[in-house]
Amino acid sequence: MNFQKRSPCGRLGISDVGQEVQVVGWVDALRDHGVVLFVHVRDRSGIVQVVFSPEIAPETCEQASSLKTEYCIAVIGRVIEREKGTENPGLDTGQIEIMASDLTILSSSKPLPFPISEKAMVTGTGAAGTGAVAEDIRLQYRYLDLRRPSLQDNFMKRHRIAKSVRDFLDERGFLEVETPVLTKSTPEGARDYLVPSRVHPGEFYALPQSPQLFKQLLMISGFERYFQIVKCYRDEDLRPNRQPEFTQIDIEASFIDEEFIYELIEELVVRMFRIGGSELPRPFPRMTYQEAMDTTGSDRPDLRFGLRFIEATDIFKNTQYTIFKQILKRNGHIKGINVKGSSDTLSKNVLQNEYAKQIVPGFGAKGMTWMRVIDGKLESNIVQFFSEEEQQAILQRFAAENGDVLLMIADPSYQVVTSALGMLRLHIANRLDLIPNTYYPVWVTDFPLFDPSEEGVTSCHHPFTSPDRTDFDPTNVEELLSLRSRAYDIVVNGEELGGGSIRIHDTNLQHKIFKALGLTQSEIEEKFGFFLTALEYGAPPHGGIALGMDRVVSMILGTASIRDVIAFPKNRSAFCPLTKAPSPVARAQLAELGLLNLGGEQVLPGAEQEGDLLEHLSWVSRIGISENERSTINAALQRAAHLAEVANDYARDEEPLYSVIEVSHIVRDGNEARNSRFAANGELLKNAPAQKGDYFKTANILE
Ligand code: AMO
Repeated sequence: MNFQKRSPCGRLGISDVGQEVQVVGWVDALRDHGVVLFVHVRDRSGIVQVVFSPEIAPETCEQASSLKTEYCIAVIGRVIEREKGTENPGLDTGQIEIMASDLTILSSSKPLPFPISEKAMVTGTGAAGTGAVAEDIRLQYRYLDLRRPSLQDNFMKRHRIAKSVRDFLDERGFLEVETPVLTKSTPEGARDYLVPSRVHPGEFYALPQSPQLFKQLLMISGFERYFQIVKCYRDEDLRPNRQPEFTQIDIEASFIDEEFIYELIEELVVRMFRIGGSELPRPFPRMTYQEAMDTTGSDRPDLRFGLRFIEATDIFKNTQYTIFKQILKRNGHIKGINVKGSSDTLSKNVLQNEYAKQIVPGFGAKGMTWMRVIDGKLESNIVQFFSEEEQQAILQRFAAENGDVLLMIADPSYQVVTSALGMLRLHIANRLDLIPNTYYPVWVTDFPLFDPSEEGVTSCHHPFTSPDRTDFDPTNVEELLSLRSRAYDIVVNGEELGGGSIRIHDTNLQHKIFKALGLTQSEIEEKFGFFLTALEYGAPPHGGIALGMDRVVSMILGTASIRDVIAFPKNRSAFCPLTKAPSPVARAQLAELGLLNLGGEQVLPGAEQEGDLLEHLSWVSRIGISENERSTINAALQRAAHLAEVANDYARDEEPLYSVIEVSHIVRDGNEARNSRFAANGELLKNAPAQKGDYFKTANILE
């Protein structure tokens, strides 16, 4: 078969009418019309209808009757225009069909675990989808799932987006350089995946959480502009937008500042979204971390809709309303949102019984205060506790008009107020359908350098990020928590698509940060000694960023999860249902990697073999073998093997015996059944499969 001559199924059209063509692909769907058989043939380019008719080619038609969905076939036939009324506008090739003269079945297919076809054979009849198929089944047969045109389309777009990234960064003088996968831990706040070394027993490589240190080393090497589309590995709790291995567009440049990154990434991101057909609004606005927290309660604010927080603490400084009074006495905060024109949807009942009593406490706040504006006045279950002056101030501060609903959260903790009100903001926006179908990018800047932790502080971004000043005392936690960083995140529609920073390029400052993080001198040396040394050799000022490739592509394509843009993703528990990874390994392999020795336990040479046998024995006999029984059982097995060998030598000329001792039943001494209270009340044999008079049928027991 000469595949060179094939025509892509999806590209055939009216202009091919009259031509003899060859198509190859998979049987997407079949429709048997008694004598004539219609088959949708699908390849990467699309679907075309092939007709098998006994009038045209009786033998081929007979052969086609054995076709089933997802058989891989080659067809030769003539392109004809479909008869009026039989066109299929659901197919790009719906105006034509191929009258088959020849069929070759290249491969048959077992019955499918789920339907693949996404196209109806007749317009108006819904095609089967995989909507209801459990995701684990789809992932187990991912190669079949990936045959679906909609999924294939995701990967074609992903390819084009990746290509546009490479082209753009190349244009701007960036060099793609690969960095190691077997490496030392690069801290990004997750756990490491470790890889044991066979050559250095008991020692491990870590898979990179990001190429952070290598890209900085490349700046020290003088590459000036680096990028890489690179896999990163993080052992962390999974969410819909997280995978244990994911792809970053990793970027670093020397002799630059924040403005360089903002301009570069804005252009890059705009080009990427353009491939998905969306034009992002420019320039991307900027917001400091503090402003984002104060007005949306999130460092990745969704700005597609209003509902920005309104500060109300000062309005109530002399209030007689006990709850607010108590909270303000403890230096608390009160913030609120104005849900414009929503008093019809948000009834008293919904506000009090759903939001105040259930939803908001679920967000971590103790409660919620609500007020509706009716006839220019505030109305609620507590409004009588507010003075006229307070009520006027509220109306004014919230720019409240008739029909508005004002929601407030008060708490001694700023963090509780902003986080609960932030979640409430999103909940209300979703419930009232206030989120338009647009993209709203924003740069979030001026993050804190450190977050508080039980032991002191941890890095908010990573420890290589420049602080806004360098004259701090690394032992003063309060001062450390007041430092800002030169870090920035690019956020779109409330999702962090990327983050980066201007780096520290001075050894002493880097040392001081490690000290602030509570690392001892020897820990610093052991973990980052190589990097601190490199910083001593004329490190240039530099900075960079990494975009989450999977997240950006998923957002551009509007998929529900990043799994839809990753060819072979892990499921929600970091497991691959296709390959069944992670999976146990043989003790032999563990021994070879020196992993059996890790607890300090001495493993004898060859123990791995016995180990396997023991595991097998343990399994067939359903008896658990503990670690300290292993050596005794191993010794017994070795003795038995030796005896068998000796016996074999002697018995070479003898006929084999099936049993060396006479077979007989052995009756065990034991408590007589009638002594049991279960025997007396009939409980003992209640599950016997059959009973005849006083006799019970029981399972055969051999001893
Ligand atoms: P950061 O940790 O912010 O920065 O990661 C950068 C971007 O990578 C994406 N991302 C993920 N995507 C899918 N699954 C995950 N588990 C996952 N974790 C992160 C996010 C995130 O914004 N080295 C720094 C960058 C730098 O400073 O230059 C870093 O890795 O979109």
